[in-house]
Parts: sequence; C-alpha cells; structure tokens
Amino acid sequence: MDVKPESRPILRQRVFQILEHGRRREPASRVVDWILILLVLANVAAAIAHTVPDIAARHGDSLQLFDRLCVLIFAVEYVARIWTAPEHPLLGQHSPLGARLRFATTPLMIIDALALLPLLLELLFPYSAVAPLTRLVRFLKLARYSPALATLGRLIANERRALLACVIIFTGVLLAAAAAMHAVEGKIQPEALGDMPRAMWWAASMLAKIGGGEITPLTPLGRIIAAVTVMLGIGCFALPVAIIGRGFYEEIRRRDFVVTFAMVARVPLFSRLDAASIADLVAILRARTVPAGTTIIRKGERGNAMYLIASGGVEVESAISKVRLEEGDFFGEMALLSREPRSATVTALRATDLLVLDADDFLRLVDRLPEIGTTVKAVARERA
Ligand code: CMP
Repeated sequence: MDVKPESRPILRQRVFQILEHGRRREPASRVVDWILILLVLANVAAAIAHTVPDIAARHGDSLQLFDRLCVLIFAVEYVARIWTAPEHPLLGQHSPLGARLRFATTPLMIIDALALLPLLLELLFPYSAVAPLTRLVRFLKLARYSPALATLGRLIANERRALLACVIIFTGVLLAAAAAMHAVEGKIQPEALGDMPRAMWWAASMLAKIGGGEITPLTPLGRIIAAVTVMLGIGCFALPVAIIGRGFYEEIRRRDFVVTFAMVARVPLFSRLDAASIADLVAILRARTVPAGTTIIRKGERGNAMYLIASGGVEVESAISKVRLEEGDFFGEMALLSREPRSATVTALRATDLLVLDADDFLRLVDRLPEIGTTVKAVARERA
C-alpha cells in the first residue's frame, strides 16, 4: 500500500493514541488493551500447560502454533510502539530515531522486548527444557496495565539508597551471626557449622525464619546467638517493609485523582492553549490531594515542582505578608525560575486538589510554549 507522506504522521498519531494514550476514554484503546491482556494470560497458561507431559503429548502442536501466533502479535505491538515513539509528548524534542532509541530503553519497552526473546532462545536451543519456561517472562507485560505496579517500580528506584543500606545491614548481621556460631559450635557440629559457608546458610535460615530448626544449638552461648539472630532477622525484614510501605502510601496519596482534560483546560494559565498542548499537559501533570493544614511548600527548601490549584485554597506566608490563593491560581514558580530557595511557606486552607508540574517538565513547557513562560514570569515578578 502506498502511504502518502503527510498521512503517515496522522496514522502514527492515531496508532499512538490507541496504544499509549487515553486508555480509559477511548473504546479502541480499551479493546486493544484487553486483547493484549487476554493474549498474555492465555500465552502464560499455554506455557504452563506445555510442561505437563500428557497435555504436551496431546495438544503440543496446537500450543506451539498458538505461541507462535502470540509472538507474532507481540512483535507487531512492539514495532508499532517503537514506530509511534516520536509522538510521545516528552520525546517530541528529539529526532525520530533519537525518540525511538530513548523509548526503547524505558522499562516497559524492555519488558516487551524480553517477551520476544523466548522464541529466539527456543530456535537457538530447540531441545532445551529451560528455553520454553522463559515464555513465562511475558507475564511481566501485564505491568503496563497496573499503575500500582509501576508505582512500586518507581518507589524501589527512589528508595534504592535506603534499600541498599538494608541489604548491607542484612549481610553484616548474617556474617556476624555465622562467624559467632561457627566459632562457638563449629567443632561440636562440624556437619552444619564446620565452615563459614555452612554457618552462613544456618544464619540465613535463622534470619529469614525459613528453618534452621534442624540445627539446634547445643551450648548455652550458641542458644543466645541463635535467639539474637532470630530477633535481628525480624528487624532486618521489618526495615525494608516499612520503607516500601511508607513510600507506597505516599505515592498512592499523591495520585488520588485522575488528571482530566477538562481539569487542565479550566486552569486560567492554560485556557488559551490548543487541544493538543492540553493533551500533552494531561500526560505530564501529577495529581495530589492534601488535607487542610498540610504544608505543601516550606520556605528555604529547594524547589522541585510548581503547583496549580484544581480545587480548594492555600495560604502563602512570606516574611512580609500572608496571601490566599484559590482555585485556578498557581504557586511554587519562583524557585523554579530563579533557582533560589522557596520564598514562602504554602499551607492548604482546606482539602485541596493540586496539579503538580515537576521542575524538568516546567522548564520544558516554558521552552515549548513561551507565552506560558511569559505569563508565569510576569506573575512571579509581581509577587517578588
Ligand atoms: P516559590 O518561592 O517557589 O515558593 C513559595 C511560593 O509562594 C512562591 O514560589 C510563589 O509562588 C508564592 N508566593 C510568594 N510570595 C507571594 C505573594 N506575595 N503572593 C502570592 N504568592 C506568593
């Protein structure tokens, strides 16, 4: 089929909207999503069934055919997503090739690429029993449809330093417990504690509470070490659970409502933008609901975002004045423009819905839509 040059971006835009955008609004995207979800589930079920000798003997060929069909569809999906990458609002400033390369390295696209690998492995190692099991990795494709899972991924990335500290603490406790037990009972129970690797296995089992019961300490000192190890184990596991739990709660609270087109279009600052620019904004704005009395910005802190009030109201308290801002107003722009610390403390007067624009997105937006930059700068100058 001959594709006219000007019709390609339109087609690309349409495919992008269906694959990446407005999932909840458009019937076409919803249908495509559901087909892909069902295919992933059926494919994983087929991979599991294939490991049962009876089923493999009777339906092996059909299962194989089904798998190839799924791979074909997933490959088409992958190519389509890569092809439409230049339509992505956050990749718009790159060349088409640059946008595609960047898009290919996003976590979800890496998962999509991994989902295609099993076929290659199966073709390279046709007699391997392990290669077909790699099909199970396709289950991860469902991550795309679970915003909470994406949240968890981002959270682990955000908290990586704290989590790394937990791993170091855990390893330290493990080594200490193993060394103490090896020193105290290594000679009495050489089978279980005679060398460090064995003693470390004992310590790991005690810390994780997966057992270790089959090795009972025989000396009083050994029993004390075992008891302390169990207690430290509980602490070692409670720590990362608490870190992830708290972060999860905060992330979920931050996205308590879905940013809609109408919500963005109603903000006076954006009211003169065209539909496409507003659609771009919908994608980059985060939603956050804060209860009355919450301090949203603290004077002197580093600025990392600007806020728009979707509903509710806040009070801005600077050294010289107290000002109220209401629905439609924005704040937090001064620190982003001047790169100086926050000039005032901003507190919610009542339960307030905020649209949050991260600093990077803000600077990009000002770059792309200079009239917004001019308005924001004028307001900031007046406030200063
Ligand atoms: P920023 O300095 O980033 O953080 C505090 C915010 O309070 C500031 O940006 C402005 O958005 C807002 N602000 C500061 N002074 C005033 C003022 N006089 N009137 C209204 N808003 C203000």
